[in-house]
Amino acid sequence: MTPALFRTKSIDQLLVDGDTSHAGGAELKRTLSSFSLVALGIGAIIGSGLFVRTAAAIAQRAGPSVTIAFIIAGIGCAFAGLCYAEFASMIPIAGSAYTYSYVTMGELVAWIIGWDLVLEYAVGAATVAISWSQYFNKVLEYFGMAIPYQWYHSPFEVMPGTQLHGIMNVPAVAVLFLLSALLIRGTRESALVNNVIVIVKVSIVILVIAIGWGFMNPANHTPYIPAATTYTTPEGVTHPYGGIMGILGAAGVVFFAFIGFDAVSTAAQEAKNPKRDMPIGILGSLVCCTVLYVLFSHVLSGVATVEDFRTAGKEASVTYAITKYMVGYSWLGKFVTVGILAGFSSVILVMLLGQSRVFYTMSRDGLVPKLFSDLHPRFHTPFKSNMLFFLLTAGFAGFIPDDIVGEMTSIGTLFAFILVCAGVWILRVRRPELPRSFRVAGVPVVSTLGILVCGAMIYGLGWTNWLRLGVWLVIGLVLYYTYGRHHSKLNSLTSR
Ligand code: ALA
Repeated sequence: MTPALFRTKSIDQLLVDGDTSHAGGAELKRTLSSFSLVALGIGAIIGSGLFVRTAAAIAQRAGPSVTIAFIIAGIGCAFAGLCYAEFASMIPIAGSAYTYSYVTMGELVAWIIGWDLVLEYAVGAATVAISWSQYFNKVLEYFGMAIPYQWYHSPFEVMPGTQLHGIMNVPAVAVLFLLSALLIRGTRESALVNNVIVIVKVSIVILVIAIGWGFMNPANHTPYIPAATTYTTPEGVTHPYGGIMGILGAAGVVFFAFIGFDAVSTAAQEAKNPKRDMPIGILGSLVCCTVLYVLFSHVLSGVATVEDFRTAGKEASVTYAITKYMVGYSWLGKFVTVGILAGFSSVILVMLLGQSRVFYTMSRDGLVPKLFSDLHPRFHTPFKSNMLFFLLTAGFAGFIPDDIVGEMTSIGTLFAFILVCAGVWILRVRRPELPRSFRVAGVPVVSTLGILVCGAMIYGLGWTNWLRLGVWLVIGLVLYYTYGRHHSKLNSLTSR
């Protein structure tokens, strides 16, 4: 008899559970085509990782060698992405890595991943909302207005050179509120808005690369890999800077910029043809973005200095670099600022969507309360879940600095990726006969490399982040043992 912790959900049972169409009850609508899925992926991918966290990685970890960090992060994501794609083509059910692990590694690991995905989606959405507030303030500046420092920073931040502390990040909370409300209205409407924003966002990246290329100062790229030393942030955290460790740490930080391609797989229940469209959605968006990131970060680190990104250019860094160095292109600065704002909105939207869908699935499995799967009678969206996650994300975005939430998002997601890489391998051994419309070539080599590269980035993020991840997982285990384990639907199927 399998112990409760390791009991797995059978794939056959999963496919039956996921198909609610025969039940005549409320179901998620199948409205997304493969183009919408790639757009959904790019919508989720290009965001604050590129437009804010890149500057943090340059300033605190790697200088211009952030481009190498992007390549490492991209390679890790490609390995993990291939594993995701195999899973997604085999198990086209909402829920992402959570669902995959439930059928492979058992309920406890599934719970850990589901809980861990809250870091990826909810805390990730909070991070992007904080970035949104920085660029929003720039837009206000164009109109001669500004939000006072205290009202768009967390209590843990101090205005450089003063004693002025933040109180709460109000714009970040406001944007989360608006987008949660939009999601409650329905996926189709949200995806349409998203498609338009994706086009704007990609245009911005291409324009900055093309125009900024001529403004690069070779001195900013010398040396390309700074000598290994350390850097202490204004909040007092010391990181390795330069050398291999600097690059690995930077890879962990900018890994944030890739988060989201897996969000595509959480929408599997809403895809028209999931077996064909999911691998296209996941890998297509990943490849497009990697190329753009390396070019963009090369230009950004060439236009402005490391010192800029440690001081005044720390916030809304792209607008800062354009305004200060790209003389004659103030229109570009304005276009970029407004476009980025829209771009961040689409990222937040997809992350909030992914979050509510993961908890939707967990709720149907009995691991979290039923209210997370209650659908709105008219909009067919998990509206109660959306409202609760608004509260959680607002707590993070309103009161915690972006460096902390950003790195927590990265480490949580990297951990989930490692478990997915392991899971695809385990399933090949345990259920080789199952049909897979997309098979990763070279398992277990690819899955092992995915584990190693993602593990190296976790190592690079340093002990403060390991500690935060540990605390988060302990809280999750307490919840599992006090609630999930007793309410799991598998209780009625297996002996406990
Ligand atoms: N990848 C997304 C971003 O960069 C989360 O904002």
